[in-house]
Amino acid sequence: MTPPECLESSRLILRPPGQEDAPAIFDGYARDPEVVRYLTWPVHRDLGDTRAFLDSAERDWTRGKSFTWALTERGDDTCLGMVGFRPEGFRGDMGYVLRRDRWGRGYMSEAAGRLLDWLKAQPELYRVSAVCDVDNHASARVMEKIGMQYEGIQRRAMRHNIDEEPRDVKSYAWARA
Ligand SMILES: CC(C)(COP(=O)(O)OP(=O)(O)OC[C@H]1O[C@@H](n2cnc3c(N)ncnc32)[C@H](O)[C@@H]1OP(=O)(O)O)[C@@H](O)C(=O)NCCC(=O)NCCS
Repeated sequence: MTPPECLESSRLILRPPGQEDAPAIFDGYARDPEVVRYLTWPVHRDLGDTRAFLDSAERDWTRGKSFTWALTERGDDTCLGMVGFRPEGFRGDMGYVLRRDRWGRGYMSEAAGRLLDWLKAQPELYRVSAVCDVDNHASARVMEKIGMQYEGIQRRAMRHNIDEEPRDVKSYAWARA
């Protein structure tokens, strides 16, 4: 699959992230324990962690392993968060993160919804799924708002920073009719 480098919505532009985004990502959200609470990746300790992540994101895009977009507001190129898609044949998973001072404005529903619209238009894709921690109500709501269907709970399926033990996750998906 060859996703577009840029996806636009009314308030946002999704574009490829680069090393120049490292400080905005590190200071904006990757070092914030509140943001990574329900995520699998550990809080970044320094800019080196963020730079290593950006390297792997670029490699993964080139290899077609996963695609990650930086989320920016129209008129300001600062990276405020990310949306990503990992294809696996006829299906794939979505993920997303946003810096805390931009929560609650509908940004992620707009960004993830835009990505999902593009994915739905790819005839080779039959299923796009995403999971969130059972206590991550904002993320569950985003998936509902963009039209993914709730499919149930996968018990003890993911390790999140909130807990030493694996957590139950809610599973959502869009599937081609
Ligand atoms: C999840 C996240 C991306 C949401 O981003 P956002 O831009 O604030 O999301 P939106 O504004 O588009 O929608 C959030 C919805 O959740 C609702 N919400 C937020 N906190 C909530 C809570 N504690 N309980 C119930 N609903 C909640 C909001 O009211 C909104 O719904 P509404 O439009 O019906 O009112 C953001 O909180 C985030 O980055 N969290 C940390 C990283 C993360 O958890 N990523 C997802 C991993 S699965």
